[in-house]
Amino acid sequence: MEVKTSLLDNMIGVGDMVLLEPLNEDSFIVNLRNRFDHNEIYTYIGSVVISMNPYRSLPIYTPQKVEEYRNRNFYELSPHIYALADEAYRSLRDQDKDQCILITGESGAGKTEASKLVMSYVAAVCGKGQEVNKVKEQLLQSNPVLEAFGNAKTMRNDNSSRFGKYMDIEFDFKGDPLGGVISNYLLEKSRVCKQPRGERNFHIFYQLLSGASDDTLMKLKLDRDFSKYNYLSLDSANVNGLDDAASFRTVRNAMQIVGFMEAEVQSVLELVAAILKLGNIEFKPESRVNGFDESRVKDKNDLKEMCELLGIEQSVLERAFSYRTVEAKMEKMSTTLNVAQAYYARDALAKNLYSRLFSWLVTRINESIKAQAKTRHKVMGVLDIYGFEIFEDGDNSFEQFIINYCNEKLQQIFIELTLREEQEEYIREDIEWTNIEYFNNAVICDLIENNQNGILAMLDEECLRPGTVTDDTFLDKLNTICAEHQHFESRLNKNSKFLTDHSLPHSCFRIQHYAGKVLYRVEGFVDKNNDLLYRDLSQAMYKATHSLMRQLFPEGNPAKVNLKRPPTAGFQFKASVGVLMKNLQTKNPNYIRCIKPNDKKVAHIFTDSLVCHQVRYLGLVENVRVRRAGYAFRQPYESCLERYKMLCKKTWPQWRGPARDGVVVLLTDCSVPTEEFAYGRSKIFIRNPRTLFTLEERRRACLEDLATLIQKIYRGWKSRTHFLLLKKSQVVVAAWYRRYAQQNKYQKIKSATLVMQSFIRGWKARNILRQLKYEKRCKEAVTTIAAYWHGTQVRREYRKFFRANAGKKIYDFTIQRIMQKYFLGLKTTTMSPMDNTWPAKPYGFLEGAHTQLRRIFHLWRCKKYRGQFTEEKKAVYEEKLEASEIFKDKKALYPSSVSQPFKGDYLEIQKNPKYQKLNSAVEEVLLADLVNKINRANGKGSPRLFLLTKSNFVLADQKTGQVKASVPLPDLASVSVSTQSDGFFALKLKEGSASASKGDFLLSSEHLIEIITKLHHIGTTAADRDQINIDISDEFLVQFKQDKVCVKFIQGGPKNGNSAACKRKNNRLLEVSVPSP
Ligand SMILES: Nc1ncnc2c1ncn2[C@@H]1O[C@H](COP(=O)(O)OP(=O)(O)O)[C@@H](O)[C@H]1O
Ligand SMILES: [Mg+2]
Repeated sequence: MEVKTSLLDNMIGVGDMVLLEPLNEDSFIVNLRNRFDHNEIYTYIGSVVISMNPYRSLPIYTPQKVEEYRNRNFYELSPHIYALADEAYRSLRDQDKDQCILITGESGAGKTEASKLVMSYVAAVCGKGQEVNKVKEQLLQSNPVLEAFGNAKTMRNDNSSRFGKYMDIEFDFKGDPLGGVISNYLLEKSRVCKQPRGERNFHIFYQLLSGASDDTLMKLKLDRDFSKYNYLSLDSANVNGLDDAASFRTVRNAMQIVGFMEAEVQSVLELVAAILKLGNIEFKPESRVNGFDESRVKDKNDLKEMCELLGIEQSVLERAFSYRTVEAKMEKMSTTLNVAQAYYARDALAKNLYSRLFSWLVTRINESIKAQAKTRHKVMGVLDIYGFEIFEDGDNSFEQFIINYCNEKLQQIFIELTLREEQEEYIREDIEWTNIEYFNNAVICDLIENNQNGILAMLDEECLRPGTVTDDTFLDKLNTICAEHQHFESRLNKNSKFLTDHSLPHSCFRIQHYAGKVLYRVEGFVDKNNDLLYRDLSQAMYKATHSLMRQLFPEGNPAKVNLKRPPTAGFQFKASVGVLMKNLQTKNPNYIRCIKPNDKKVAHIFTDSLVCHQVRYLGLVENVRVRRAGYAFRQPYESCLERYKMLCKKTWPQWRGPARDGVVVLLTDCSVPTEEFAYGRSKIFIRNPRTLFTLEERRRACLEDLATLIQKIYRGWKSRTHFLLLKKSQVVVAAWYRRYAQQNKYQKIKSATLVMQSFIRGWKARNILRQLKYEKRCKEAVTTIAAYWHGTQVRREYRKFFRANAGKKIYDFTIQRIMQKYFLGLKTTTMSPMDNTWPAKPYGFLEGAHTQLRRIFHLWRCKKYRGQFTEEKKAVYEEKLEASEIFKDKKALYPSSVSQPFKGDYLEIQKNPKYQKLNSAVEEVLLADLVNKINRANGKGSPRLFLLTKSNFVLADQKTGQVKASVPLPDLASVSVSTQSDGFFALKLKEGSASASKGDFLLSSEHLIEIITKLHHIGTTAADRDQINIDISDEFLVQFKQDKVCVKFIQGGPKNGNSAACKRKNNRLLEVSVPSP
């Protein structure tokens, strides 16, 4: 919460002189002293700030202080220069009024410090940002540069500004600084060549010599020793509390920040060095034939070095110090200079060089800091100009005259803007006004600046007048023309009422300035006003190769030779002051009146007489009087109503009707005493600042209430929206949670219900089951009982019918059952025709059927078996069958042949290439086998191939395959074999047949059964032939060619081996012993 304070809080004396009681010069000074003793160096007169120089640093310029005064009402806090700066800045920013801050006071009163404080305050409170900060920095850093070149130590001030400075700071609509323009006024250039005792030359000379590096000094051909330079005063070269070396670094740094190029800095330093060198040039007289002395440069070394620094041809400059070209009526004449004139020329050159360099610096700085934007700027001007200078011993010269003239003009502005304007406004507004007498210094200004008979005009006239002109002729002129003027005094002024004033020395005049009487010594007025620089010198300078010289001496350009005299110093100053005044008049003025408390530059000393003197010439008491008599504050009705309308219900929020009526209603409603107000035509006048503060205070409170209201509604709205959102979210969350909880609960209930239900259902079901079981048992019991009972009944009833039929039925049923079982038992028999098994007959009465069934079933399965045969297989079996018909039970060999298949061709004669010839000789071979042909002679066998075809049988050689005998089958009569298990057989031919001549064949074969069967088969199938007889006996006859031989088979012991052996017993008997089986 902001603490509301006021100027009136803890006030020492009175903070605003308007409140001073009683008001007179003494009480004024006492109040100032009182406050000064309590470190209160600022005091107001209304909105004017009086500033006492404390000569020590006070803790009142801290950033905290800046914040404290920022955006605060002027009368809210104790008086401070920041309050004025804030007021000016805010009204510039918010009300779009250009401002100027006029700082006046004696030398050493603290003007320059005040201007810096104002600038630093504005810099601190205005906008921030990279660009803005750069501009601020450049504006602030222009100060050290200008101070180095324009300030000097004087008796009154160790850092006295020796030039007047007006700086326009330009702002954009937001109040951010854009740039600035600096104007300088009348540098005290005489200081370059000569300084009063105890004072110094401009700071830069000392700074350069102490601060520059050895290297730089060498380049500038300088020596660190101050005493080597005529232009530097030596007795106070070192000033307490001033570190020239450090300042030099600061200046160089500042130049860099402001935007000076390194080369530019170098050029500037070269000029400074050149001036020091110039001061060292000395002259000696040289007698000429015409009797005049002519000046010559004594020691040319300094001249040479200076010329080198500036790039001037030495001879040109040397000549310019000895001769002078005078032009009259288009003729050029050269006159010589004497030593005094040479020194004059030298100093004039030095002064001009320095002052022009200074002006160039200002121009150069302006180039850097000038605002870029084309939009309209708001301007805050800060004027720091030397205050009244009065040297008590009458040592005031042309400079003081000019300075004091400037201060007269400023006072004029002050009077004009503050006093006269105020009174005029009262008249305009038709407000009652007790006219106050105040001194209008317009007459003094007129005395000095009047174009016809002003002092400056007369001085110019004297300077331009042909003939001998001296300061005394000028004074004479003044004495005649200004004699009547009441503010002008002179010893020779016969008509003056001050004739008796013997305090006036000769060659002096006195002007009664508004701030006091000042005695001026005329000596030097004409020269200083003339400010002559011989044309030869300016031309020599123009010719220099140094980069700055051409800019500094444009009049030296031979192409632009101008015979007209340049404007005098006085004329120039008057013109620039005129411009300045015009400029200031368009702006809203803010005053800072600086007062110095003592002459010793020390703290805590308050010299009454000195302060009184300043208070008097600043017209401060008068100022308070005017303030008090009038109204402290005025404002157009519209803006007043707009500003305070919230203080009254009738005017808030809108007043319909004339603004004046609105204000009347408003102020009546606020119950402010009527004497505090005066209603003008267009403005309301408030007598006392305090009334205004009250209104302001109320307004602020009201605004705070309004802000609170807005805040309240906004906060309410914000909280409500937040609450609604929370509520909505809560409902959603709750709904979800409830759903979840209910779902859980439901699930629990559901499962519990299910358990319970199942228990109950089980229980019920078991009950029902038990009941049903019981009922069923009852039913069963009843049924059983009933059945038995019925049975008994029925049996009892039908017993008589049963016995007759029961036997047959039981018999049929039993038979049926037995047959069924019997047939099912037959199922176990297999389908193999070889299978001889057959189930045993279960009952004797089935015997016939059982045998029949066995036969039928065997036939049927044989048929089935046969049905599977192919034609070939059938043929094989048929042969086998035939063999069995022939041999079964007749020959012992037969059983062993049953299992052997009849292959037919055992020799594979078709495939065997050996028998190819044989193969082709016979037709289709039915059988081919290897047999033994038994020799009748010894009974031994020899192997032969035996082939059987459809029509004949063939015997062939085993090795060659050559046919030995081929007998057509019809010639075969019979075949004889034994009953035994041997392989012998005899093929008997028909008697009388073609083949019979060869005799019968006795052969043995391993496949006897097959051969005989096949022979027999051919016999049975051939229609045209008789059946072949097959004799089976153990003795038969065989017809060998002529003889018949008997073959007899006997049973031999096992010693005979496995095969049967044939032996010849005698001519008619062959015995075959067959191993017994
Ligand atoms: N407000 C202040 N606080 C502390 N010292 C001050 C103040 N004003 C002025 N001074 C001292 O007084 C000296 C002279 O001030 P300055 O502003 O240069 O005077 P002016 O410009 O009026 O000749 C300064 O160098 C400084 O030491
Ligand atoms: Mg100053």
